[in-house]
Amino acid sequence: MSEMSTKSRELFHYQHDSLIFNGHALFDHVAVKNYDQPLLLHSSELVQERINWVKEWKNLGQLHFAVKSNYDETILKLIQKNGCGVDVVSLGEIQLALRCGFKPQDILFSGVGKTEKEIRFAIENQIYQLNVESISELKRIVKISNQMEKKLHIGLRLNPEVDAKTHPNIATALEDSKFGLNTRDLSEVETLLEDSKYVILKSISFHIGSQVMDTSIFREAVSKMKPIYKDIKSRFSSVDRFDLGGGLGLNYRDHNTANDYERWTQLRQIYEETLSDMPDYFLVEIGRFMVARSAVMVAQVQYIKKTKNKTILILDVGMNNLLRPMLYQAYHQIYPLKLRAGKHSYMVVGPLCESSDVFHADIELNILHEGDFVAIADAGAYTKSMASNYNLQPIVKDIYLD
Ligand code: LLP
Repeated sequence: MSEMSTKSRELFHYQHDSLIFNGHALFDHVAVKNYDQPLLLHSSELVQERINWVKEWKNLGQLHFAVKSNYDETILKLIQKNGCGVDVVSLGEIQLALRCGFKPQDILFSGVGKTEKEIRFAIENQIYQLNVESISELKRIVKISNQMEKKLHIGLRLNPEVDAKTHPNIATALEDSKFGLNTRDLSEVETLLEDSKYVILKSISFHIGSQVMDTSIFREAVSKMKPIYKDIKSRFSSVDRFDLGGGLGLNYRDHNTANDYERWTQLRQIYEETLSDMPDYFLVEIGRFMVARSAVMVAQVQYIKKTKNKTILILDVGMNNLLRPMLYQAYHQIYPLKLRAGKHSYMVVGPLCESSDVFHADIELNILHEGDFVAIADAGAYTKSMASNYNLQPIVKDIYLD
């Protein structure tokens, strides 16, 4: 048994009716005592633990953290200190990464709509790798690098055309996807590259989607992509990095870290089995798996409203801070900070002027009263990073637990 698995535990439990999140009694936290708006409480320790897990895969060349999942500066600085790189999708994310101490050589730049300004910045600063997602983008890159007379290392993001069996809004590798190139684009790509003095092909990349729960889909993707990688490498000797993307999912209904670790171990074993004969460097671009578990959102019950069929719990936090349930029908567990006896079925909603501002249509929780606090679990990925000021509601305030 691996050493890390002995650290597995339930992230949430109650002690004397008080919710404990990874060792922290949330109700007693000074930020909850002085509560005046919804909070996001982060645990750096949990992020550190994930970095250690992923890096246990010794053949992993580099872990690039997907900044889009969580762009909290404290978390990014921790990730930087651990020697990881970043996967970014905009000039804003590049500039933030540089501010947090990452070097241009740590930056992998993805995204389907890179502007001329963004490409110039990437070339000027000699970032590590830019992943190309369309023929038109490659033409633009070739043109700009010729004008600037500066080289750029690129990767080709290719669609393995596998079904990620995830929510359609987060599946990315199907044939008519806006993301990535298809294999039939390759001959045109190669002609463009052969004519370019400055654009250097270093990597082949794929990303099948996000919140992928079935690890066998990664095996399918690797088995499709590996022959393509080898074939391209036989013609472009500069290619030496295989970029495996991100996308490993989590069970949002279960908070035993042993099950997360088990899923990562399965994926690592798939990579070890399928890639061990390759001398190349491997990259991963993981977001959710690194940070989703590392934060909880704390909100307050404002009103409890009885309708004919429902008991509606109206919170002070809404879809402006946590859009995932509305956009992907995602489940986020809710835990009262103080446990009261008895259970009740609630519809849990936010305060926004939108009928879709609903976290749960029907969830059984321990009894709650107006003024009580609740923690919304797994709020470390794609929560605050997707937040808006819609209705001019405040964006959650960051609090650091350790
Ligand atoms: N690499 C690329 C090219 C990506 O597009 C993404 C995520 C990642 C890596 C990181 O994927 P992860 O390991 O985090 O699954 N807002 C959605 C997820 C959108 C994912 C977008 N791309 C959600 O809340 O579920």
